[in-house]
Order: sequence, then C-alpha cells, then structure tokens
Amino acid sequence: MMARYQLSATVTARPQVTGDIVRLALLAPAVSQAATPGQFVMVRSAVALDPLLRRPFSVCRVNGDGTLEILVKVIGQGTRGLAALKVGDQVDLLGPLGHGFVMPDQGRACLVGGGIGAAPLLFLAQKLGERLPASDIQVLLGARTGAEAMALALPFRDLGLPVQLATDDGTAGHHGLVGELLAALTSGAFPTQVYACGPHPMLAAVARISTDRGWPCQVSTEAIMACGLGACLGCAVPRNGGRGYLHVCKQGPVFEAGELQW
Ligand SMILES: Cc1cc2nc3c(=O)[nH]c(=O)nc-3n(C[C@H](O)[C@H](O)[C@H](O)COP(=O)(O)OP(=O)(O)OC[C@H]3O[C@@H](n4cnc5c(N)ncnc54)[C@H](O)[C@@H]3O)c2cc1C
Ligand code: FES
Repeated sequence: MMARYQLSATVTARPQVTGDIVRLALLAPAVSQAATPGQFVMVRSAVALDPLLRRPFSVCRVNGDGTLEILVKVIGQGTRGLAALKVGDQVDLLGPLGHGFVMPDQGRACLVGGGIGAAPLLFLAQKLGERLPASDIQVLLGARTGAEAMALALPFRDLGLPVQLATDDGTAGHHGLVGELLAALTSGAFPTQVYACGPHPMLAAVARISTDRGWPCQVSTEAIMACGLGACLGCAVPRNGGRGYLHVCKQGPVFEAGELQW
C-alpha cells in the first residue's frame, strides 16, 4: 500500500506567479519524499475555518529541503483562503493521493499543459529529466495571455527544457490552442508518449489528436472532490464504452486517454 500522511505543514514560501496564481511551498518531508508525478494532495488553510473541506492540488515540485510545492489558482473560497496565507502559516494536508503518471526509461515525451494544468507537468518534467535527455522532453503550454504563459513556462525553462507557447490573445507564441501545437509536430519530433493536463475541452482535443496519430496519451483529469479517498463517490467520470464510472481520486487522476468517455 502507498504511504499517505495527514499532517500540519508550514508555508515556507508563497511567491505570486500571476495575478490569480500563487505558488505555495509547504514543509512536509514525508509527503514530499513519497509523492510521485501526477499525484495530488488535499489541502485546507488551518487559518480560516471556512470551507471545512480540503481542496485537491497537484504536487507541482518537490525539493531537497523537505518542501513540496503547489500552484493555487484562485477560483472560490477555499483557494482564496490558501492564496491569502503568509509564510509561517499552517495548512492541514492529506497525501500523497491517487495514481500518477507512468514514466518511460526511453523515448520522447511530450508534455501538454493548459493554464494551471501545467502544475503536475512540472513535477513530471523534474522526474523525467532524471531519466531522459532534455532534448527528448518537449513542453507545450497554453495560457490566456503571454504574461501567464511566460510565468508558467519559467520553471520548465529553468530545468533546461525548450517550451513552445500558445496563447488565447496571441501575445506570446502561437495565437490559438495548445492542441494545435501538438497537431503541428513534424515527423522528427513525434512523441512516443504524450502527457496532458488542463481544461476538459483541451484534454479531449489532445486525446483525439494522440489517438488519431497512434501516440500513447496519459491525461491528468479534474473533478470536484469532497474526500479524495474513494469514500464519497463524488468524483465519478464516465468510462469509455458505457462501462460505468471511474473515480478520479482513487483510480486517477491520471488515466490512459482511451479509458475515458470524451
Ligand atoms: C486532482 C486535482 C488536481 C488539481 N490541481 C490543482 C492545482 O494544481 N492547482 C489549482 O489551482 N487547482 C487544482 N485543482 C482544482 C482545485 O482543486 C479547485 O480549483 C478548488 O477545489 C476550488 O476550490 P474553491 O473552494 O476555491 O472553489 P469552490 O468554492 O469549491 O468552487 C467555486 C466554483 O468553481 C467550481 N469548481 C470547483 N472546482 C473546480 C474544478 N476543479 N474545475 C472547474 N470548476 C471548479 C465550482 O463548481 C464552483 O462553481 C485540482 C483539482 C483536482 C481534482
Ligand atoms: S472525492 Fe470522494 S470518492 Fe473521490
């Protein structure tokens, strides 16, 4: 059985990434050591009493000092509370949870992220970099604006990885959807494995392009989660072929694209 911890973790850093995205570094050595790319943690602010339930966040990086990092995009009350935390504040953390990405020892990986979907791909890139040469890891990131795209791309570039950008407003990289960058890859750059995380329509497009071209594709999916442990059954997503449902928190959040009903 995989190790899982429930603990209080101290915020050790909280740089602002964009206007509505904050990076939180949380001191949690046991979780940081146990986590694998694609896994998530359930987190709530220990400062605010409301909301009571923890929220799910992908582990976006682990560091040698025992911290793990999450990117928090402000959506509602829970994320607003987390984004307002200061260095030294505590969070209540449960994890690592779920099934992460399966990583190859060779081949060419293509990581496709949309917006905050870049979060789990950064941890994946960190670990893939220990197995594959940087020239065999492609990163394609989509965002609303050039400023957001650049901010999300920065830590990938710090790992020495080339990043292609696509933006909704055309202020950086390709003016359009990140899936179009994937579809435009030329034969010398074909991936042997595609990894994707982002909004549902983007994942559906990446899954379709990958299937059409015969590229294996793993997707990290989102669902609204109450427990994160397989108890409430609230995170069900339909399985391909009308064969019932899969639970994102237990069987995912990473799935082979072909397992899901798009
Ligand atoms: C496995 C997993 C990993 C995730 N990783 C990250 C991450 O790395 N960084 C990050 O910022 N977020 C991530 N999320 C999404 C994050 O959990 C939600 O944004 C958060 O739970 C919203 O909580 P809230 O209290 O701020 O908003 P709420 O008050 O709960 O919701 C506000 C509104 O947003 C809607 N909403 C809530 N959650 C989602 C969602 N997942 N997608 C779309 N709409 C939603 C609600 O229906 C509601 O209308 C992840 C989700 C999952 C399942
Ligand atoms: S969140 Fe409760 S079963 Fe998945």
